[in-house]
Amino acid sequence: MSERVDRRKFLGLAGAMAALSATGAAAQAAGAAKTVRILGVSCSPRKGMTTSKAVQAVLDAAKAVDARIEVELVDLGGLKVAGYAKPPPEDDFTPLLAKLQDPALAALVIGSPSYYRGPSSLCRAFIERCSPLRDPKPVLAGKLLGCVAVGGTRSGGHELVIASIQAAMLCFGMIPVGGLSPATPGATLLSEKDDISKDEAGLDTARKLGARLAELALR
Ligand SMILES: Cc1cc2nc3c(=O)[nH]c(=O)nc-3n(C[C@H](O)[C@H](O)[C@H](O)COP(=O)(O)O)c2cc1C
Repeated sequence: MSERVDRRKFLGLAGAMAALSATGAAAQAAGAAKTVRILGVSCSPRKGMTTSKAVQAVLDAAKAVDARIEVELVDLGGLKVAGYAKPPPEDDFTPLLAKLQDPALAALVIGSPSYYRGPSSLCRAFIERCSPLRDPKPVLAGKLLGCVAVGGTRSGGHELVIASIQAAMLCFGMIPVGGLSPATPGATLLSEKDDISKDEAGLDTARKLGARLAELALR
């Protein structure tokens, strides 16, 4: 009798352990599958300067939201990215395509300096070269878009830069996201003597954009 009880207990325990380990494995698999990537692209010709720092501030804020968020910054400064041509030019854009086609990519952050109240030509070239992501298959459709603008003067066309990037990326079916709250169209920063660290209000827009992107990317 006691042997039967022990055997029953043993079988029950073994079953429970198997179920637990299966649940754990499933939870682990689900956790791994939920990893989401946010890619930042800085479109200033000056590598490592204020635009790349501002994009990095957005990415840092996104990463701080949840361990499942993975971020990466691509700084186009100093790289050769020509505008659209057919066939596509063989330049530094080519290796970027794979990152943009990654199915785990949930959001793209595009940052540009304000150049005469519009995006830099490097930013336009980057967007034009994204054409293979639109046709034949809209690879970026439904993915989130965050925009960053850095200018040397207050009201230096930041919102025009952001609106221009958003309008272009709507052609790819991307979903533009701003920061909350108060609602902002994106991150807008003032660079004074090549420094954004004193622009607390601007850095706040970067943090809010990053947080919002992360929250939505995780949904
Ligand atoms: C050609 C050119 C045009 C510019 N036009 C504007 C402008 O319209 N509005 C503005 O606020 N700043 C303007 N600036 C200043 C840059 O936006 C600012 O220096 C920015 O920080 C540059 O980004 P970076 O540090 O990443 O290079 C201009 C700078 C250049 C070189």
